Amino acid sequence: MFELRRFRPDDDAELTALFADPATRLWNPGPADGGVAAWRESIDAPSDEHRTWAVDDPAAGGRLVGVVSVFAVDREQRRAEIGFRTVPAARGRGVAAAAAAAACARIAAEGLVDRIELFHAVENVASCRVAQAAGFALVATVPANYRYGDGELHDEHLHRRDLTR
Ligand SMILES: CC(C)(COP(=O)(O)OP(=O)(O)OC[C@H]1O[C@@H](n2cnc3c(N)ncnc32)[C@H](O)[C@@H]1OP(=O)(O)O)[C@@H](O)C(=O)NCCC(=O)NCCS
Repeated sequence: MFELRRFRPDDDAELTALFADPATRLWNPGPADGGVAAWRESIDAPSDEHRTWAVDDPAAGGRLVGVVSVFAVDREQRRAEIGFRTVPAARGRGVAAAAAAAACARIAAEGLVDRIELFHAVENVASCRVAQAAGFALVATVPANYRYGDGELHDEHLHRRDLTR
């Protein structure tokens, strides 16, 4: 239903709407105003540290509906983290869960790491639901673990998915 692909210059309108969204600015901020094209170009190519994909909706003419990233790749520990964002107009259709599952499949096929972790603020219930739907089990609640877009430290849930099973 949804596909992972490289970014394109005509994704910038959707990326601009995504990064202007209050929930995105709070829980997973992007570049400062005006920096979308530079962000897209910098994030598009796979690197030692991350793989980041545009999430594409073929039924909507190939428009970008989200972003998913596997980052903080640690080849020695064979672990990485995952994050996701869904364009506001495309929410409520399971985009992030499908994208996270597809990203895990890509990483497993590549043999890059053995486990992927997801941290989200405890208050970010949508992210918790996405994690569970994509096979990331809740393993811990970590007090005051990350300073989010409001400048405040928030308790976080740590979810983990084992790619070897
Ligand atoms: C989190 C996010 C990616 C989910 O978007 P999505 O892919 O459209 O997800 P959906 O709307 O399909 O919702 C997924 C689940 O969360 C639930 N949900 C959605 N918004 C919710 C809310 N505000 N409060 C509680 N539950 C919510 C849905 O009911 C659904 O639950 P279900 O699987 O039990 O039916 C999106 O809200 C977003 O981009 N938020 C801003 C960035 C962010 O928080 N990223 C994650 C950082 S770790």
